[in-house]
Amino acid sequence: MKHELALEISRMTEAAALAAYNWLGRGNKNRADEAAVETMRAVMNEVNFRGEIVIGEGEIDEAPMLYIGEKVGSGQGAEVDIAVDPIDGTRMTAMGQNNAVSVIAVSEKGGLLKAPDMYMEKLAVGPQAKGVIDLNLPLLDNLKAIAKELDKSLNKLTVVTLAKPRHSEMIRQMQSAGIKVFALPDGDVAASVLTCIPESEVDVMYCIGGAPEGVISAAVIRALRGDLHGRLMLRTEAKGDTPENRKAADKEQSRCAEMGVTPGKIFPLPELVKTDNVLFSATGITKGDLLEGVVRKGMMATTETLLIRGKSRTIRRINSTHYLERKSKKLHKHIL
Ligand code: FBP
Repeated sequence: MKHELALEISRMTEAAALAAYNWLGRGNKNRADEAAVETMRAVMNEVNFRGEIVIGEGEIDEAPMLYIGEKVGSGQGAEVDIAVDPIDGTRMTAMGQNNAVSVIAVSEKGGLLKAPDMYMEKLAVGPQAKGVIDLNLPLLDNLKAIAKELDKSLNKLTVVTLAKPRHSEMIRQMQSAGIKVFALPDGDVAASVLTCIPESEVDVMYCIGGAPEGVISAAVIRALRGDLHGRLMLRTEAKGDTPENRKAADKEQSRCAEMGVTPGKIFPLPELVKTDNVLFSATGITKGDLLEGVVRKGMMATTETLLIRGKSRTIRRINSTHYLERKSKKLHKHIL
């Protein structure tokens, strides 16, 4: 993949974040998502690459998502795999809460795990704790091993997770062991990235969340030489055994079979992301721990983007000022 593609992918998340901004605090997460998806797709299709969405939030029949298997790009240039979430934190965007981001990961063809949009259990650490995690073991055993490797006591360890009912018991156990736990309402990609950002105090991210977010996180973590294990989970396991969840789980089982992946199997990082040749871009929609949010003043807007190249392990922060009247109406109907 050429260097120039990095700047192009940062334009994709910038555009999606600007489109999502118009739906900030309006209580409608679907419209926010739709605006971000359509805008990101329009920018993608301008860029000279031949991309395939290998994991994203949606199947072909679930418009308007960038669906799994969708081909994007101008049809010229490098063939790449894409894992995408135009808004990680749709609820946060709709409710005007912190930490919503637009994210994308791109690798050379065949580099990213192709899997359905289902749940995934994920455990992520930064480079200093690489090699000590094992999702086969109980979480507390992992946390003890990580603390030992980081030469810290458990009460100096910082873990980020999501504040979901399915995590309540696990949060209680960690807190009883003296661990500092930050439980965010949503958004595990930004939380995973924080494990690998040198200036962040986050040591570990653990949660059961979306598989697309898992693969995107795995890509950026591989780029920054951290570590992540993921385990695909059927909806019944993640959310409980109800007739509705069983129906969804049956569909997930057959999609997994079609794609050649097994629910329940633990994927170590090299199986989630097969190459260091990855690019990652995240643009803040709302102000958060990782990034500033979109700020808009009339027809001018500012964005902050984190752009990471795995080959060189470079972390760039891009502060952009956008003069919106100069954007083409066709591409940016959701921004103007
Ligand atoms: P979206 O905004 O893309 O829906 O994701 C938000 C999120 O919190 C993810 O970060 C997380 O992986 C997933 O949802 C958790 O799923 P659920 O909300 O179903 O518990």
